[in-house]
Amino acid sequence: MRLIDEIREEHRLIDGVAGSLFFWGDRGSGHRDAREDLNDLIHFLRIFLHSYHHRREELLFRALKEHGEVPSHHGPLAILTEEHEAVPPVLDELAVAGACAESERIVQRLASEIWQHLDKEETVLLPEAERRLIDGGVRELDGPTPSVEVEAARALGLDLIRRLPPMDDPDLIRGDGCIPCAAFGDTCHGIETEWWSDWEMEHHRSLDEG
Ligand SMILES: [Fe+2]
Ligand SMILES: [Fe+2]
Repeated sequence: MRLIDEIREEHRLIDGVAGSLFFWGDRGSGHRDAREDLNDLIHFLRIFLHSYHHRREELLFRALKEHGEVPSHHGPLAILTEEHEAVPPVLDELAVAGACAESERIVQRLASEIWQHLDKEETVLLPEAERRLIDGGVRELDGPTPSVEVEAARALGLDLIRRLPPMDDPDLIRGDGCIPCAAFGDTCHGIETEWWSDWEMEHHRSLDEG
């Protein structure tokens, strides 16, 4: 499904730029290029991540709600949407703070949050999404064509990865499935409880039993 394939591709770029973000914090706000690099990181995250990528995922969320028989007001779709909306205020905070010690902490926390969000989408959302949409009669799903501004932001992302070599957060353990999600057991009870019907539970159990 084209939209899902493209979302996976966009994740690779966003994952890399999150590493550049973490690197920016690690190198320190005193570096001579720090201000310009921070502005470019903020621009990429505003245009490519939030205005483009998040909106396209929300098309997928709407299709899942309408054709995939999943709720949007609780469970994974609600959590992921909340996480999308949490990004712009952080970018505003960074833009006001500029290149300073506080921004080093903010960017590293943001990078970790982006990675955790990507992991949930890659390991929980997307594997379920395609199957559910096909079962719901959706054979193809397209998003809008990227604008010139989005393509420029995509190129900027690649440039940022070259200028600011991506690094990992040594304190973040990246993992598959619902267990590493901070919302699990709190505001979300995991995809099995939130999405699976009795029939699906039974089906997955029989597959596990071989
Ligand atoms: Fe997302
Ligand atoms: Fe995503």
